[in-house]
Amino acid sequence: MHVHPIPPSMAIRTRFSAFLLLLLPLEFIAVMGVTPPLPLPECRPILAVDRDLVQLTLNLEFLEAEFFLHGALGMGLDVFGPRRSSSSWWKEGQSGSHHPAITESVGGVPRPRLNISAEAFAAFFNRAMNTTLSPPFNPYANSLNYLLASYVIPYVGLVGYVGTIPNLVGRTNRELAASLLGVESGQDAVIRTLLYLRANEKVKPYGVTVAGFTDRISEIRNRLGRCGMKDEGLKVPKQLGAENRTTSNILSADADSLSYSRTQPEILRIVYGTGDESRPGGFLPNGGAGRIAMRFLAT
Ligand SMILES: *[C@@H]1O[C@H](CO)[C@@H](O)[C@H](O)[C@H]1NC(C)=O
Ligand SMILES: *[C@@H]1O[C@H](CO)[C@@H](O)[C@H](O)[C@H]1NC(C)=O
Ligand SMILES: *[C@@H]1O[C@H](CO)[C@@H](O)[C@H](O)[C@H]1NC(C)=O
Repeated sequence: MHVHPIPPSMAIRTRFSAFLLLLLPLEFIAVMGVTPPLPLPECRPILAVDRDLVQLTLNLEFLEAEFFLHGALGMGLDVFGPRRSSSSWWKEGQSGSHHPAITESVGGVPRPRLNISAEAFAAFFNRAMNTTLSPPFNPYANSLNYLLASYVIPYVGLVGYVGTIPNLVGRTNRELAASLLGVESGQDAVIRTLLYLRANEKVKPYGVTVAGFTDRISEIRNRLGRCGMKDEGLKVPKQLGAENRTTSNILSADADSLSYSRTQPEILRIVYGTGDESRPGGFLPNGGAGRIAMRFLAT
C-alpha cells in the first residue's frame, strides 16, 4: 500500500478542523455535567474486575495482530509469537508488540481460535451488504479490499477501550488502557483516511463505492451491537456530522465530536457476528478468551 498526502482542501472540510472549533463548547458541556438517559439493560456496563476487563481487549489485539501480520508478511502469530515487535509494517509493529505490556500488567490469556480466512470476511461482508456478493468478497485480493477489511476490527477495539477505561479502578490499568486507546485510534484514523481518499471509487466488481461499503459495515456493527448508533461510515447525513454541519466523516464520533463507547458484550456481539455475546462465531469461532467472554459462553 502507498500512503498518499492528504489534499489540504479535504483536511479543511473534515472533523479534524471541526473538532478544534468545538473545544470551547465542549468544555462548557463538561462543566454543565449533562446526565445521559439510562441505557437499556443489555447496553449497561458490566461488573468485572480490572484484570478481566483488560484481558477482554486482548481478544481484539490478537485478532488485529493476526490479520495485519498475515497481510504484511503472509504469516501470523504462530510464526512470530506475540512478543515480536518489528518495524517492518506500521500495524504489525503495534498490535504485535503491545501484548507483552498487557500480559505483564494483568496476566495473559491463551490466544483464542481466530478465523481471518477470506471466507470469514466474505460472510461478514455479505451480512453487511445484505446480499450474497459474487464473487465472494476477498480481503486478500488487492490493497483496496484489504483496506476495507481493515475497517472492520480496529474501530471496534477503539470504542471498546473508550467503554472500558471509565470502569477500571487501578491507575496502572487505566494508564495501560489509555495508551492502547491512543494507538488504536491512530490506527483507525490512518485506515479511515486512506479509505476516505478513495471514498468515491467503485469497488470492483461490485459497483458499490468505498464510502458505500463503510456505511454498510458501520450499520451492521450497530445492528449486531444492539445498543444504538455508535458507528458511522465515511460519509454521513449532516445530522451525524461534526456540529451537525459536515457530511465528510473521517473520524466516527458524535455531533460533539466525542468518541462513541461500547461495552464488552457489545464488542463480542460484533466480532462473533451473531449479535449475541453467548453465541460465538465469525472471527472468534470458539468465542473469546478470558473470564468475561467465558462467563457469557456459559450462559
Ligand atoms: C471460518 O469462517 C468461514 C465462514 O463462516 C467458515 O466457512 C470456516 O469454516 C471457518 N473456519 C474456521 C477454521 O473456523
Ligand atoms: C435485506 O434484504 C431483504 C430482501 O432481500 C429485505 O427483505 C430486508 O429488509 C433487508 N434487510 C435489511 C436490514 O436491509
Ligand atoms: C444536532 O442535531 C440534533 C438533532 O438532529 C440535536 O439534538 C443536537 O443538539 C445537534 N447538535 C449540535 C452540536 O448542534
